[in-house]
Amino acid sequence: MPKTALITGITGQDGAYLAKLLLSKGYYVVGTFRRTSMLNLERVNYLGIKDKIELMPMDLQDQGNIIKVLDKVQPHEVYNLAAQSFVAVSFEQPLVTGDITGLGVARLLEGIRIVNPEIKYYQASTSEMFGKVQEVPQSENTPFYPRSPYAAAKLYAHWMTVNYREAYNVYACSGILFNHESPLRGLEFVTRKITNTVARIKCGLENELRLGNLDAKRDWGYAPEYVEAMWLMLQQSKPDDYVISTGETHSVREFVEAAFSHVNLDWREYVVVDPAFYRPAEVELLIGDPTKAKERLGWQCKTDFKALVGLMVDADLKRVGK
Ligand code: NAP
Ligand code: GDD
Repeated sequence: MPKTALITGITGQDGAYLAKLLLSKGYYVVGTFRRTSMLNLERVNYLGIKDKIELMPMDLQDQGNIIKVLDKVQPHEVYNLAAQSFVAVSFEQPLVTGDITGLGVARLLEGIRIVNPEIKYYQASTSEMFGKVQEVPQSENTPFYPRSPYAAAKLYAHWMTVNYREAYNVYACSGILFNHESPLRGLEFVTRKITNTVARIKCGLENELRLGNLDAKRDWGYAPEYVEAMWLMLQQSKPDDYVISTGETHSVREFVEAAFSHVNLDWREYVVVDPAFYRPAEVELLIGDPTKAKERLGWQCKTDFKALVGLMVDADLKRVGK
């Protein structure tokens, strides 16, 4: 009998890559989506797996819905990737963000406890929880200091995950993932905004790129490698929390330079700094220490910064060119 995995957030970047990975490992994959007027399956379509997974509506804001889906699917593993995941929007919509990204996790964990506490649980935690960093680099032992409603909601979700592990013995893991990107990244996130606009400028469709804080630094990795770490966390003898990162940091400016130079353009001729994209409170520097993941999971990133920028620009050039 193949194992059944339930992935929330199947329409998102990580949901699509994780579904593809689990299918390749022989899992039966159920992906859940929230009801919208038009279901967007672009990413699972792009990866050619739409017909290989079962799709089911489930909203993290609805406790009854969650319990019914868990009861029907009876998964061995639940990967909770669904969230209001855009930091900038969380300042505009703090309550909805708290309800989905924070309380949604409590609903899911409660559902697992009620339906079957043997279900293994993966929580998509984030380096944003380190926020105003208290230590460089950040590891599993670094104190948290969230700087946005999104980060505060994720921190609540992180501690709920730890609590259900300690209080009810649920096999629950929190993956503290640093930024990970790909050609499937949402267009509002800075990396994809840059690579998409660079491709459009190269093709003569646009002539400027408006950005906010160019000095912010992030530890950017390649998403398909990060979903492998999620799976590994649920295959260990004991549940635990892990930082997943490259161990390198680069500024938004460096990303911009690398993307423009990949297509032989000078970024200074196109980039306009627009304060409209500044955040009320910024996370200035993130750099993770992935030692524990390397030692315990045997996980390590493979794609470096330059290769990541190049593959994202190339994918956008191909798409825009069409
Ligand atoms: P994403 O592309 O924004 O995907 C988020 C998913 O959540 C989408 O499928 C979205 O559905 C779904 N969703 C939103 N509200 C929902 C609700 N009320 N009920 C059910 N589903 C809902 O995010 P991602 O980059 O794949 O990231 C996956 C997870 O990892 C997120 O939890 C994110 O916060 C976390 N994370 C991401 C990174 C990163 O760098 N990518 C790093 C650390 C942690 P729609 O398509 O309908 O919007
Ligand atoms: N989005 C965006 N748009 N960000 C910009 C822009 C712009 O025009 N200009 C500068 N930035 C800066 C932001 O201020 C931030 O410091 C940095 O670029 C990265 O922003 P995002 O790409 O939006 O990602 P994020 O780091 O805030 O959040 C992402 O990574 C987290 C993990 O650390 C999201 O995927 C979160 O869901 C995830 O938890």
